[in-house]
Amino acid sequence: MRLLLIGDIVGRPGRRALVALLPGLAARYSPDAVIANGENAAGGRGISRKIAEELFAQGISLLTMGNHTWGNKEIFSFIDDEARLLRPLNYPSGAPGKGWTILGTSAGELAVVNLSGRTNMAGPLDCPFQAMEKLLKEIPQLPVVIDFHAETTSEKAALAWFLAGRVSAVAGTHTHVQTADARILPGGTAFITDLGMTGPVDSILGVKTEIIVNRFRSGLPRRFEVASGPAQLAGAFLELDGLGKAIAIESFCEFIDREEEEGGTGSDI
Ligand SMILES: [Fe+2]
Repeated sequence: MRLLLIGDIVGRPGRRALVALLPGLAARYSPDAVIANGENAAGGRGISRKIAEELFAQGISLLTMGNHTWGNKEIFSFIDDEARLLRPLNYPSGAPGKGWTILGTSAGELAVVNLSGRTNMAGPLDCPFQAMEKLLKEIPQLPVVIDFHAETTSEKAALAWFLAGRVSAVAGTHTHVQTADARILPGGTAFITDLGMTGPVDSILGVKTEIIVNRFRSGLPRRFEVASGPAQLAGAFLELDGLGKAIAIESFCEFIDREEEEGGTGSDI
């Protein structure tokens, strides 16, 4: 089974990078499915139905979310009906939506899980380790691929090692900076600390640089705005054998130079 995992799609530059660059990646890797983090896809914060549809039309099979799941209130109107959209599994019970699903691909089925870290992450969240332990007892014997949306490198590595040999892949998202550590852990679990950002290159994690620089210098809050300019698509190619063991993981980051206007704004990354 061949999969593309795409890092956080940020605003219009991220969506345009996807349109421009995903066809080339698809030609290079021939993926059976494409899984992307879409929690920053609408103006840098949350996702709308229109943008989710746009991303599915571009070839995304499944969207995962994270700490900005509820950033665009429109999500409440469709998250319970949209089979191709996940929010973190370890949200408090009763939260709308679902944290895992079985994804059918041209090479068979796999289980995809969206999970959130707790270290330096806001909000009430259940323990991601316990949530996965419980889930693995309940779900069918299938390859399991996890988007672990978390801040710290140590929490991501800890979850990957905790699950080594029990899941097919743990791919980190959220920091918007791709890490150079893609590897296969003992037992056939692929791991990368962070897939990186699909969004504007000349930015600070997707936001206009002057806004973030001024925030650090002055300490004053200011509404975040997604940067414009050249854009990138970051992620990783993952290959699993017939038993669901990872046999390859290869990160990539592709670029387009086209200047773009970005109208979206958000109050956080
Ligand atoms: Fe995030």
